[in-house]
Amino acid sequence: MDNLDQLIQQAEGEFAAAADSAQLEQAKARYLGKSGSLTERLKGLGKLDPEARREAGAAINRVKESIERALEARRQALREAALLAQLAAEALDVTLPGRGSAAGGLHPVSRTLERIERLFGSIGFVAVDGPEIETDWHNFTALNTPENHPARSMHDTFYLEGQDEVLLRTHTSPVQVRAMQAHVARFGHLDSMPELRIIAPGRVYRVDSDATHSPMFHQVEGLWIGEKVSFADLKGVIADFLRKFFESEDLQVRFRPSFFPFTEPSAEIDVAFMSGALEGRWLEIAGCGMVHPNVLRFGGIDPERYTGFAFGMGPDRLTMLRYGVTDLRLFFEGDLRFLGQFR
Ligand code: PHE
Repeated sequence: MDNLDQLIQQAEGEFAAAADSAQLEQAKARYLGKSGSLTERLKGLGKLDPEARREAGAAINRVKESIERALEARRQALREAALLAQLAAEALDVTLPGRGSAAGGLHPVSRTLERIERLFGSIGFVAVDGPEIETDWHNFTALNTPENHPARSMHDTFYLEGQDEVLLRTHTSPVQVRAMQAHVARFGHLDSMPELRIIAPGRVYRVDSDATHSPMFHQVEGLWIGEKVSFADLKGVIADFLRKFFESEDLQVRFRPSFFPFTEPSAEIDVAFMSGALEGRWLEIAGCGMVHPNVLRFGGIDPERYTGFAFGMGPDRLTMLRYGVTDLRLFFEGDLRFLGQFR
């Protein structure tokens, strides 16, 4: 009997020493498992005579129950300990003040682009886009730009290594040609095509970098083609747009004769403010002109029947003027001290 009582103590000791349930189950096996010490003892009963067997059997069963109770108690203790450890590890202090959420804001150039899209949208211009990796054909050839034009040189245009058919578009004007082709594909079968009126905002690339030039910058192309579109329409649309954009009715707008291979006649558009730091100074903000007959032809449109105007303006420049920013590079550095001022 002493022997059996010792067995209880021994088992309780081993159970207590088990640090986790795996160790506990191993300890259990040493007593209650197939060849555990209690199981062995029960097997030994067969050798005893009936009287002794009954007594010994009862004793062994009592011990077995004690050990099972100890086992269950230890299991329960380990489960509670594991739960407490988990709660401690995943502690959540609900009394901490919240971190708050900082409101973001649109980039100033994005604001300008949205503003331009809204103003032109109000007079029926649909915003479309074209690829920034453009074909040489769309960027130059279809825009009536001759083979030897300086813009086609490596000093001005980013070409892609090992590819002579594609480049980073140097302006949004190739979208003119894409838009004309798409328009003809949709409406070319009609006796009279509806007017085409689009703007195409987007990124363009040139080998150029200083305070007022960035190798990547933005342009917004505009194109209006119809049966009786004239230079007078161009002047009206542009002057109206600029006065609305700058919220200034006395803004001066002038069209200065210029040259682009894809328009004829061509002009630069200048504006002058009647007040503020830039008062009275003419500032160039866009190029424009009547779409060249060759460009209409490349777009699949009959220049004898349809005419149109096009313009390309610099929304980065418009943003600088509207907010009084003097260095273009600030727009592309991602400095929150600068960007945060436009919320
Ligand atoms: N694509 C010209 C440029 O980048 C601007 C322009 C567009 C001029 C449309 C005339 C017509 O300078």
